Amino acid sequence: MNSIKDYKNLNQKKVLLRLDLNVPLKQGLITDDTRIRKILPIIDFLIKKQTKIIIISHVGRPNGKIINDFSLKPICENLEKKLNKKIYLISNDVFKLKKDDLFKDPNNQIIFLENIRFYEEEEKNDIAFAKHLAGLGDLYVNDAFSCSHRSHASINKITEFLPSFAGLQLETEINALKKVTTDIKKPITCIIGGSKISTKIGIIKNLLPKFDNIIIVGAMANNIINFKGYQIGKSIKEENCREIVKEIFETSKKYSCKLIFPEDVLVGKNFNDKSQTKELYDIKDDDLILDIGPKTINKIKNIIKISKTILWNGPAGYFENLNFAGGSYEIAKAIINKNKNNSIYSVVGGGDTIAVVKQISDIKNFDFVSTAGGAFLEYLEGKELPGIKALN
Ligand code: 3PG
Repeated sequence: MNSIKDYKNLNQKKVLLRLDLNVPLKQGLITDDTRIRKILPIIDFLIKKQTKIIIISHVGRPNGKIINDFSLKPICENLEKKLNKKIYLISNDVFKLKKDDLFKDPNNQIIFLENIRFYEEEEKNDIAFAKHLAGLGDLYVNDAFSCSHRSHASINKITEFLPSFAGLQLETEINALKKVTTDIKKPITCIIGGSKISTKIGIIKNLLPKFDNIIIVGAMANNIINFKGYQIGKSIKEENCREIVKEIFETSKKYSCKLIFPEDVLVGKNFNDKSQTKELYDIKDDDLILDIGPKTINKIKNIIKISKTILWNGPAGYFENLNFAGGSYEIAKAIINKNKNNSIYSVVGGGDTIAVVKQISDIKNFDFVSTAGGAFLEYLEGKELPGIKALN
């Protein structure tokens, strides 16, 4: 990969900078700004090199439609404050933008395009869209490792039309993950949770041969619980996954990787409810599984105790409601305790995982914090990520 650090004459160059500013938002407020803070070095670097910066990012999954709740405005304002510099958010139709119209005001150094996923062409990796975006700049920088597993126009196709470079954060993440995967100490445990079932469920099978224990929590565990013959009420689950789950169990046996999933759960009748502990056989039609139960927490703690490496990606429950944050908090505490006497190497990844950990501790208590969720898992799987492949 060519690094932007090695590019010789950046002065006055228009740089299309792909970032992942997909931060958690609650009623327009940013609940965790880690991903924004992590990209400050690249912006600082490009400012010092006197470039003109065009930031491209997405937030959420608006599916090609303009949805105000997914506007990048609060994120742009947050970045503006952090940099103490005016940033111009461009909400106009991106197709109508022309390179020469940008940065007419010489004081203007950073512009911010509105959510790129408002355009259906983005997720289709549309060639004309990518070409048009590329036409707005002189070169392209990907500093969005956490969405480099997506074959999207502003991550993949765009690199066909411009000299393309790796950003500072992207390089840091890849180097750290390379080190984790080569120097890894056994027993290795991987905890996978969160709500993006479709992104992660297919990956588990390929991770099983590499690890000693895989702990499945969060929404994905609902599919497993259901596969085991229990009712899951109104809980989130992915359709048509029985075959994948069956293969996951078969593969775990074949490679002697222990597969752990919830033995008991916390349920509510809605996302804002109080929590109630339930055995799996007791889940009712109107229950929503929103966290792991105490027996499961104990089991996970015992596995953490005997692990030498732990990779954690995705919260154990719906931590946005504190009644369902306990599972994630207990996992975090168990890892931090072991970290204190250096008896575990811990890697935590993904926007929500970072957010939940930060509610009770400093993320510095982990050995490495990756901003990436799905990309982190796909990297561990050994896959070549489309965004990285394109830079190569
Ligand atoms: C992430 O949060 O993992 C990235 O921003 C990618 O988001 P996505 O899963 O919606 O593609």
